[in-house]
Amino acid sequence: MEKPKHHIFVCCSFRGREIKGKCIKKNSIDLIPYIVEELADRGMNAMVSSAGCFNRCDDGPVVVIYPQGYWYGGVEGEDQVDEILDALEEGRSEEKYLIA
Ligand code: FES
Repeated sequence: MEKPKHHIFVCCSFRGREIKGKCIKKNSIDLIPYIVEELADRGMNAMVSSAGCFNRCDDGPVVVIYPQGYWYGGVEGEDQVDEILDALEEGRSEEKYLIA
């Protein structure tokens, strides 16, 4: 497997073995298959993984992209994902969802 250029982490609210945070309650896990599909459609060299709580629960659903270090909040659905991936393809962040 080629090393991905971008690694996208979707908060799925794990704290240890338990799911306790807010992102999963806002259906963050449903973003993952959509992101996988979009990355393939766009031919982007990126991968997506579920992640534990980023301690920004009130800003959730949280999506973090490395190596850029973009932390996004309020990623509630496909429209927000599309905007974020559009920006990533253009080599920039999508400012309106940045939380850090
Ligand atoms: S549950 Fe997502 S940041 Fe805490």
